[in-house]
Amino acid sequence: MQKLKGQRALVTGASSGIGKAIALELGRNGADVVVNYRSGDDVANAVAEEIRAGGVRAYAHRADVSQEADVVPMFQRISAEFGGIDILVNNAGLQKDAEFHDMTIDQWNTVIGVNLTGQFLCAREAIRCFRRQGIRPEVSRALGKIVCISSVHEVIPWAGHVNYAASKGGVMLMMKSIAQEYAPMRIRVNSICPGAIRTPINQGAWETEETYNALMRLVPYKRIGEPDDISKAAVWLASDDSDYVTGASIFVDGGMLLYPGFENGG
Ligand code: BGC
Repeated sequence: MQKLKGQRALVTGASSGIGKAIALELGRNGADVVVNYRSGDDVANAVAEEIRAGGVRAYAHRADVSQEADVVPMFQRISAEFGGIDILVNNAGLQKDAEFHDMTIDQWNTVIGVNLTGQFLCAREAIRCFRRQGIRPEVSRALGKIVCISSVHEVIPWAGHVNYAASKGGVMLMMKSIAQEYAPMRIRVNSICPGAIRTPINQGAWETEETYNALMRLVPYKRIGEPDDISKAAVWLASDDSDYVTGASIFVDGGMLLYPGFENGG
């Protein structure tokens, strides 16, 4: 059953990792999809082509989400090509890790710029588009849906990654505040908070047996997450199955939040 048939979605950072899995899964569920990416035309075009092969519309669009001058035209093009937007998945994110005393202003600004300002800019444009459109009851009970990809680090402090944790903590209250502001207009805004998912961003944490075993000490469920663990949750949040859910942070983390250090102690 295609839960998102007739809906139009934008996924930022969709040429690899979690974003790619979400873009493909939205397409499989009947949505038209814009595959936003920052670099690597070939891989992004390949994702769009794979989505089109399922019989829906899709194209790749290059834009740096931290730049207003890139984000505004990206939304204008979606309106022109698809006639509007119903679903934004605010996924683009990166890490620039450093010990705090060595962290440069550039490392700080880049992470806050993409992970937090980028989500602000895209959410703002999406809300502007939603407000211009009317509800289409035949496709969704909501006027629009925004799914923010946050992290367990919106609540778990993370030494050596202060810029990243600050950006995700910011995403948490940005998401909840937008959700509160626009719920009366039937716009739903939620976050998925992934734990350790097998993607390029954390390759060092899973690529050798030693690092994988160390990682498992933090995961009560004792397996790494896969991108499709997140994409299934994203489809749920984008569909009417979750119509009464707004302002929620949904943790998809194999129990990482359950104080795993207490498994055998305390
Ligand atoms: C980070 C990953 C990390 C995971 C769990 C994610 O948000 O991007 O690098 O493995 O959180 O700590």
